[in-house]
Amino acid sequence: MKNVRLMDFRYIQDPDDAEFYGGLVPIEGARDIPFEIKRIYTISGMQPGARRGYHSHRDLEQVLIALGGSIKILVKTPFEEEVITLDSPAKGLYIGPMIWREMFDFSPNSTLMVLASKYYNEGDYLREYEPYEREAREYFSK
Ligand code: TYD
Repeated sequence: MKNVRLMDFRYIQDPDDAEFYGGLVPIEGARDIPFEIKRIYTISGMQPGARRGYHSHRDLEQVLIALGGSIKILVKTPFEEEVITLDSPAKGLYIGPMIWREMFDFSPNSTLMVLASKYYNEGDYLREYEPYEREAREYFSK
């Protein structure tokens, strides 16, 4: 859907004993991430029934990565919606401007890492659905 896409990072494993040594995921600035990373934050300690997010950003790009466990993300506009499961550190979910998101179904001990294109700015948030929907209808109709 518009302004949302899944990204695959490399998952490097020891060919002789992948089970034992696990895997390594390299993520390189301008090469793997389509914006300059200004901020990184993590979300952890969620109980299974927790649901977070419920907002959109007017002018922010983010890549969400489940570092451990699995996490579901609802991404939504007035015209489209999708639920994406993040269950590998080698998977990234790119979310551009004006996408409503909700995070839920956190598995025990899951950790979400978010790479963001801008510093934290509360003024960029749309936290109520109705005003978001009005702005997003116009934004996606252009
Ligand atoms: P918020 O974005 O509302 O998280 P969620 O949508 O997942 O519930 O942020 C929760 C709180 O953390 C809010 O008080 C703002 C603060 N915060 C920062 O100080 N810096 C940040 O980079 C982020 C993302 C949030």
